Amino acid sequence: MTTNAKASSNGLDDEAVLLVGHGSRREKSNEQVRTLAADLEGRLGVPVDAGFLELAKPSIPDAIAGLASSVSRITVVQLSLFAASHVKNDVPLAVRNARSEHPGTTIHNGAHLGVHPALVDLLDDRAAAVEAELGIDRDDADVAVVLCARGSSDPDANSDAHKLARLLYEGRSFDRVETSFVGVTEPRLEEMLHTVAKSRPDAVVVLPYMLGDGVLTGRIRDGAAEFDDEYPYVDAGAGDPLGSDTRILDVLGDRWQEARTDSVDMSCDTCKYKVELDGYEEDVGGARAMLRALTHQESHADRDDVDAQPHAHDAPEKHVAVCTNQTCAADGSPAVLERLRQEARDSDACDARITRSSCLGRCGDGPMVAIYPDGVWYGDVDRADAERIVSSHLDRDRIVSDLVDQTL
Ligand code: FES
Repeated sequence: MTTNAKASSNGLDDEAVLLVGHGSRREKSNEQVRTLAADLEGRLGVPVDAGFLELAKPSIPDAIAGLASSVSRITVVQLSLFAASHVKNDVPLAVRNARSEHPGTTIHNGAHLGVHPALVDLLDDRAAAVEAELGIDRDDADVAVVLCARGSSDPDANSDAHKLARLLYEGRSFDRVETSFVGVTEPRLEEMLHTVAKSRPDAVVVLPYMLGDGVLTGRIRDGAAEFDDEYPYVDAGAGDPLGSDTRILDVLGDRWQEARTDSVDMSCDTCKYKVELDGYEEDVGGARAMLRALTHQESHADRDDVDAQPHAHDAPEKHVAVCTNQTCAADGSPAVLERLRQEARDSDACDARITRSSCLGRCGDGPMVAIYPDGVWYGDVDRADAERIVSSHLDRDRIVSDLVDQTL
């Protein structure tokens, strides 16, 4: 049965869904969102389009304009694991603008995936797959699980990761289930793995709490492999990301129903924009957040020149200054600058601003590249070194020791 026939039999033939993904420079990640949209269309029996917050097409306004030309009711469903600035500010701003753009269309704004039993069930299966690989059974051995999420400057979002971990622990025979993060907040994966090792479990299962198989998932797998090498008395392995498992569709279906029946449930009582949380006093009231959302909207409006779009949410983790003054320029620093930027563009994990700098006072030892806040200066850097600096230092906080000129 075609979508329209299914829709008309369900009385849904005048509505559609917009599945909103983050957007990435890696087309593979954008394709995963479009595939989920197609699967969701098959599941719900109404037209489902994919739209993106940044870096990919169509943008949310363009996608809504497209749908509004054929239906009078649109439900926005957010393909985000946690509710941070994008879910709480950027998408609502886009939806609010779309409502004034399309006064004849009803537009519902749905919640993110959040904490849902289907996701806990999926994590349980991801853990069981790793146990099978390691030849370990949680009922006969001490199996410790370390869930690893992206990390955010939103405490509410980070607390949801802990809640998922606790729900995964409850009622199952894991020795312990811990939470860690890739970046932005603590505890980091590496630190948590060392802590868990002290209790000498038989096995450690690392679960990437990520949708896709991007660089962040790769970094988590690397972390698990390094830990496995470092602790021979513990078997360790990393599981697969959530991917496009049917249980993701279950959750998206629930979020759709909640939105179109105006029964969206967000944890507003612990939202830093609504209540004053210690350490986040400046965020309460949302004025700063709205300013950031307006800036974000402005800087990501033009999807034709993706390379011109900044990809910074909070202040970048690192600043890279490449000396392009006379001597370093003659030694090839412009090419190094371009290569660093290219490598950073191709990395989902890299959160750095890469800029030109004037003379760093090490003329003749360049091209000079300085990285802050680490205070590491690299000398005699060539194009090939750029890849190592990004994949090691910027992506994984690993200093490239053979290139170090000085550390401040
Ligand atoms: S020109 Fe680069 S350090 Fe002086």
